[in-house]
Amino acid sequence: MRSNYCGELNESFVDQEVQLCGWVHRRRDHGGVIFLDVRDREGISQVVFDPDTVESFAMAEGVRNEFVVRVTGIVRLRPEGTINNEMGTGKIEVLGKQLEILNAAETPPIHLDEHAEVGEDIRLRYRYIDLRRPEMADRLRFRSKVTNTVRNFLDNNGYVDVETPLLTKATPEGARDYLVPSRTHPNKFFALPQSPQLFKQILMAAGMDRYYQIAKCFRDEDLRADRQPEFTQIDVETSFMDEEQIMSVMEQLISEVFKKHLDVDLGAFPRMSHEEAMHRFGSDKPDLRIDLELIDIADLMKDVEFKVFSGPANDADSRVVALRVPQGASISRKVIDDYTKYVSIYGAKGLAWVKVNDIEAGLEGLQSPILKFMPEDVVQALMKKLDAQTGDIIFFGADKAKVVNEALGALRIKIAEDLGQVREGWAPLWVVDFPMFETASDGSMTSLHHPFTAPSCDASELKADPLSALSRAYDMVLNGTELGGGSIRINKPEMQRSVFEVLGIGDEEAREKFGFLLDALSFGCPPHGGIAFGLDRLIMLMTGATSIRDVIAFPKTQSAACPLTEAPGEVSAKQLRELNIRLREQPAAK
Ligand code: AMO
Ligand code: AMP
Repeated sequence: MRSNYCGELNESFVDQEVQLCGWVHRRRDHGGVIFLDVRDREGISQVVFDPDTVESFAMAEGVRNEFVVRVTGIVRLRPEGTINNEMGTGKIEVLGKQLEILNAAETPPIHLDEHAEVGEDIRLRYRYIDLRRPEMADRLRFRSKVTNTVRNFLDNNGYVDVETPLLTKATPEGARDYLVPSRTHPNKFFALPQSPQLFKQILMAAGMDRYYQIAKCFRDEDLRADRQPEFTQIDVETSFMDEEQIMSVMEQLISEVFKKHLDVDLGAFPRMSHEEAMHRFGSDKPDLRIDLELIDIADLMKDVEFKVFSGPANDADSRVVALRVPQGASISRKVIDDYTKYVSIYGAKGLAWVKVNDIEAGLEGLQSPILKFMPEDVVQALMKKLDAQTGDIIFFGADKAKVVNEALGALRIKIAEDLGQVREGWAPLWVVDFPMFETASDGSMTSLHHPFTAPSCDASELKADPLSALSRAYDMVLNGTELGGGSIRINKPEMQRSVFEVLGIGDEEAREKFGFLLDALSFGCPPHGGIAFGLDRLIMLMTGATSIRDVIAFPKTQSAACPLTEAPGEVSAKQLRELNIRLREQPAAK
């Protein structure tokens, strides 16, 4: 139907006849001539109809935005003064000879010919129009190219692409499962995989040696800008490689993707222990483009009269930290109040601060609501420890370590963004030496990664002091986002049972839930390990999108629904009967 894409025409086509197919991006009537900007995947060409071509001119008068048309015409140079250097096709135009309307269009709910803010719900409901916007289409094409590079890299390194089931049994990755009722087994359910974790380990037991999959994963969890209920992993597993080898190959993979598609050299990735990351940045995914750091000051605060600080300073599970912000003294009271509200989301009960108006002037040069509660020598020692400079503001957090880390860790990022203190560029790193377990709010033990991650110690040490045990896990972090996570796995049934035991999963439950894994480990399972990257997050970072929804063709809303198809939807009584399901009356919505 067409000879060329609209976006590929330039001066070299002058005097040629072309056939273009696309959407009417904009129609302008310039008394006597009609201009149609015709758009396709590759860009826009301006087509001019003059009254000499009577039939086509009349038709051009009738077309509206987003009509689908086919145009035959001759390429010519634009007259002096009408050249548009912003457009690839801005030096030429097409003199229209024939116009064919392939399909009409209603007035679109999203205007593509102007920059108008459109609500997310409309964008998702009319996704096919939203995706006509070049920046959206470009992101999907970029994603396709990156996926291709990933596949080539892994193929060239001996990895085999194996598909694993979507109708399966629960694989715990810390979220709720999406369940699918079984018709053939009444009252039984499949779970959609939270990841292919167990299958990829079983492929190692099967001798596959190197596996990968661009895998769909499903997690029913609270959604955020970088989380979707259905998302894609670059999932990898290898046998007979230790963590150093796996990290090295995966670093090469991500570096190749950045080099090829952004012409960026990521350089060698630094390593940081989980403990150091939490200490200095209050986060296990520190953004190293930001220099601000949390400094522990509990040692200075043990004996001060200010209970808010001395209490946590004398408690082993708490932290007292300072966050010194250069050039922050100009922050207004109103903004300090906003920051105080911001940290309260994370449970912080307040946000003490000191403005350093003149460091040479001693106490006189400091402005703060809390210094009156501290002896002068403590204040001086504090300023010295923090290397405070005139013009700084210093914020403080004192509470349980978890609250301080989350609150001040988040504040660190927010302030750096507000003050323009986030460096341009890319800051990747590996976070290593994670603890095996943490205690949940109900006091029970949970795995920091997943229960199949190998500890760095032996089973007896693990059982003796599980909370001190470190794991052989590693996370790849980029600009403050967790891009991927993996580990060396447990490959012996005894060790797997020990970990289940620490997690309070008894033999019977372990058998019922993971019997197939324990069996696989007992019939000659090689040492193995792997990793999974969030493909959506990778593309989001690389394209500068602010949400993974902008790099997924058909994402879900914040409440995990699809406005386009109106999923999830109701099903017929017949289907429910076949599935042996009776619905419960829902309380009327308020
Ligand atoms: P993990 O749970 O860390 O590990 O997931 C790996 C990566 O997947 C991405 N990710 C998500 N992306 C979008 N929306 C979500 N809801 C979401 N959840 C996770 C993140 C994350 O780093 N089986 C293990 C991997 C392994 O051990 O090999 C796993 O799934 O980028
Ligand atoms: P108060 O004694 O509650 O009036 O608090 C005095 C100052 O300390 C105020 O600036 C509070 O915001 C701050 N503050 C209170 N609790 C904390 C806390 N847990 N961590 C840091 N600052 C706090």
